[in-house]
Amino acid sequence: PVLVVDFGAQYAQLIARRVREADVYSEVVPHTMSAEEMLARRPGAIILSGGPSSVYAEDAPGLDPALLDAGVPVFGMCYGFQAMVQALGGTVARTGLGEYGSTQADIHDTDSTLFKGQPSTQSVWMSHGDSVTEAPAGMRVTAATSGAPVAAFEDDERKMFGVQWHPEVMHSTFGQRVLVNFLRQGAGLEGDWTASSIVEDQVARIREEVGDARIICGLSGGVDSSVAAALVQRAVGDQLTCVFVDHGLLRAGEAEQVEKDFVEATGVDLVVVDASKQFLDALAGVSDPETKRKIIGREFIRSFEQAARDVVAGTAGQNSPQDAEQHPVRFLVQGTLYPDVVESGGGSGAANIKSHHNVGGLPEDLQFTLVEPLRDLFKDEVRQVGLELGVPESIVWRQPFPGPGLGIRIIGEVTGERLETLRAADAIARDELTEAGLDRDIWQCPVVLLADVRSVGVQGDGRTYGHPIVLRPVSSEDAMTADWSRVPYDVLSRISTRITNEVSEVNRVVLDVTSKPPGTIEWE
Ligand code: XMP
Repeated sequence: PVLVVDFGAQYAQLIARRVREADVYSEVVPHTMSAEEMLARRPGAIILSGGPSSVYAEDAPGLDPALLDAGVPVFGMCYGFQAMVQALGGTVARTGLGEYGSTQADIHDTDSTLFKGQPSTQSVWMSHGDSVTEAPAGMRVTAATSGAPVAAFEDDERKMFGVQWHPEVMHSTFGQRVLVNFLRQGAGLEGDWTASSIVEDQVARIREEVGDARIICGLSGGVDSSVAAALVQRAVGDQLTCVFVDHGLLRAGEAEQVEKDFVEATGVDLVVVDASKQFLDALAGVSDPETKRKIIGREFIRSFEQAARDVVAGTAGQNSPQDAEQHPVRFLVQGTLYPDVVESGGGSGAANIKSHHNVGGLPEDLQFTLVEPLRDLFKDEVRQVGLELGVPESIVWRQPFPGPGLGIRIIGEVTGERLETLRAADAIARDELTEAGLDRDIWQCPVVLLADVRSVGVQGDGRTYGHPIVLRPVSSEDAMTADWSRVPYDVLSRISTRITNEVSEVNRVVLDVTSKPPGTIEWE
């Protein structure tokens, strides 16, 4: 792999993604990992990321020179660049000429390894207080900016490269070209990390791990669990049973979509558990959001456990009891993604159980070994793998939908009638947004029913006293922050007209124009 050494900023994951966009496999490792351990992974190249510190700060993370002596190609960026300079005997000075944001870089040599084929000035994204004033011996300086006399260097012999800026961010116009030049020309790495190689690789691994044991997967209809299931299915075929718990809080057509589209495309053995009555009963009389979430999580686990026991006993799906005895279910598929792995501080070590369907943790006494075929992948890669496996686009490009479903989009008590109202309004909003071609621009659009609020309206000749529906379209990169989407007025207008005409309980449609923070995406 290409190892991206994380010096403590948010940039390392982004760098890893950019490397993979160049079809080269990469992993993030913490800077606290020893050089020995890093080299033991036999990296094809090492990238030193940016970081928040000054190399002069007391607790500045250091760079072990052994990493630079190993003959592995190294590329330092921003803080990583300065750490390299310090380790190799150049000078990092507090010039007071820090640069933040977009800056023009003068490229001295457009024939150099990093800058070959690029213009002699380019916009680069800077974020540094200290500057390199003297390159280490043997390094050829290849670029400068007004605040950084040594803004880039390279040593082709020793295969060492560095830039003061952040090539991984979009604002660095030729950033990806610089990175690709490093990977291909600097490190001699060909691009062979592709969706089809990932599938091939994972299929082999899953086969080896699972053998002829049986394996179950909780399917939510979302992208991650669907693609994970499809991968496992490709690997071990009908040893896999998928369990889909219909908690009655789904949107219109959702259960059918999973049943039809997914099964049709993959031929997977699917058990659908209709638990809607159980959930509705448990939610009766409850309007506090956290209480609702806890109840939904608890009931979900109960249903899943029951279904898992049925699968084990051979009473669910197509497995006979005899079959169950000979091949017990020993494995559970989880759709854990790479960012979850990195964020939980790991890469290696024990699996942290991600909340199942994200509606609450699975109890530990389920006693399955986890199979997590997506734990090396970013979301966009999961989508590519899904397409490669023939998972329908309607699932691959699905917008996020929370595990607790419509249960947290009815503000107030959840009842069957209210669910029907919300489902109808939601279907119209989704329909019109899709029709307007906005599905990929919008991250997601919760539709919320204010069930305890009524307002006066007029329809035909009569007074109405109905409920408001809130539209919450947001744009986002990762759901951590979000902005409200500027959906064209005519689309909003069509949604509003249709909902108030077609959904009898609703006489008003309002738009949520709050960013996150301070608002969250969901209302509960
Ligand atoms: P918030 O409301 O926290 O939501 O801004 C951020 C993202 O997470 C989704 N979400 C959930 N997803 N289980 C899930 O699987 C949950 O309990 C849950 N709560 C929120 C939300 O739809 C948004 O994409």
